[in-house]
Amino acid sequence: MIPIPRRIPFAFPDDLNPQWKPGDPEFTAMVNGASLVMPYLEPFLIRTMREALPQVADPAIAESGRAFNTQEQHHYQAHRRFNELLKRSRYPELAQIEADMTASYARLAKRSLRTRMAYTAGFEAMTLGVTRWLVDYRQPLFGGADSRVASFILWHFVEESEHKCVAHDVYHALYGGGLVNYLVRAVGVLHGSFDVMWYSMRGYRLILKKEGLWFRLSSRLRLARRLGSFVRHVSPYLLRAMLPGHDPRQEANPVWVDDWIAGHATAAQDEPPLLDTLHPDIPVPFAPPPAATSARLPA
Ligand SMILES: [Fe+2]
Ligand SMILES: [Fe+2]
Repeated sequence: MIPIPRRIPFAFPDDLNPQWKPGDPEFTAMVNGASLVMPYLEPFLIRTMREALPQVADPAIAESGRAFNTQEQHHYQAHRRFNELLKRSRYPELAQIEADMTASYARLAKRSLRTRMAYTAGFEAMTLGVTRWLVDYRQPLFGGADSRVASFILWHFVEESEHKCVAHDVYHALYGGGLVNYLVRAVGVLHGSFDVMWYSMRGYRLILKKEGLWFRLSSRLRLARRLGSFVRHVSPYLLRAMLPGHDPRQEANPVWVDDWIAGHATAAQDEPPLLDTLHPDIPVPFAPPPAATSARLPA
């Protein structure tokens, strides 16, 4: 299946609170920190993919690669607008981390295409674990949050699930099997994942310091609980991605993700699909298809 790029007009006006989930500054900071990385990471993924695609003979993989690039472009453009709001309204100091990321990705650009494709496929493997965590725990993580942010973040991870095979397929199209290519790919899982986690951590640490929470034990304990949950859910995906013969197709999408994709395909496209974060199940933000509605009506 070729991924479907969706340009969704998520809006981040000045009245949007950078602390967009009341009572949960630690998770808010984790998401804001990860968002900060996206306009540096994702253009790097796009440049790497663009360089690799002329060497891909399979037209379906090449077309998926182009769709991957368009999806990633939409992601980082939305994150950049969101991050500008964060810096403008409360955290201008984040610009220092952005400067460091610019330098870091410039250094990484000098590495071989194989190393950069392995980094790309490796980061993409991590996103599947993050999707599973965010979607399965959407109620405790996003319940009561500003819907504009929750809907934007979960849209991003829906599309990460949708294009989960692309970087892996391109890596294999270019480099095939063999022990060395496998080892480079396995190292890429750690390289891509920990690089992004490092810069995300710098972002949330800065935010929690600014909020006066970083040195408070109660905040550290809440952060440790969130991070522990993240690690428990994401680590198995990283370990499986490092095994020989790994194929992202073996990682099933959460049902909620498939429902989101099916719902969006039939919904009106003029407004951003906003989640009801006060609903106990936070269902996909689309009406059920007519067949499902009539099936529930009494005879
Ligand atoms: Fe993305
Ligand atoms: Fe991606």
